[in-house]
Amino acid sequence: MINKLSVATLLVVFLMSCGGKQETSGQDEPVQLSTNQLVAIGKMLVDESDCKTCHHATNKIIGPAHKEVAEKYEFTDANIKLLAKRIIEGGTGVWGEVPMNAHPDLSQEDAEKMAIYVLSLDGEERK
Ligand code: HEC
Repeated sequence: MINKLSVATLLVVFLMSCGGKQETSGQDEPVQLSTNQLVAIGKMLVDESDCKTCHHATNKIIGPAHKEVAEKYEFTDANIKLLAKRIIEGGTGVWGEVPMNAHPDLSQEDAEKMAIYVLSLDGEERK
């Protein structure tokens, strides 16, 4: 009885200490997300926003296919910033006369994640 109990206690303590270590590891370092993680978050943000009303990943609807956008722009930091600005401010004249609406409620950070997702769609590696 006592033996079984102490084994169980040890197991619980062991499991808890493992979990604790995982949670605190790297606590003081700034979180650096990989490009793959940013792409995944960006896709989520695009899925949750109104983008899909006008954009499809591979087909032109009202706006250009996001893959076409990826093919037009190199996957660079400068273009991530440029497209994030376009996503927030909206605009017209790059792809045709149809305007894109502004998204003033988006943060620069979230808009950049969306831009990273869009720019990943042609399979180009981030530069
Ligand atoms: C009302 C329709 C509409 C919605 C909603 C919309 N777009 Fe657009 N989007 C457009 C059109 C139209 C263009 C082309 C604008 C142009 O020719 O300058 C465009 C262009 C773009 C471009 C390329 C910009 C460039 O300079 O080449 C990106 C990136 C983009 N949209 C992302 C998004 C994202 C992300 C969302 C959701 C937050 C979104 N769009 C929502 C219609 C829309």
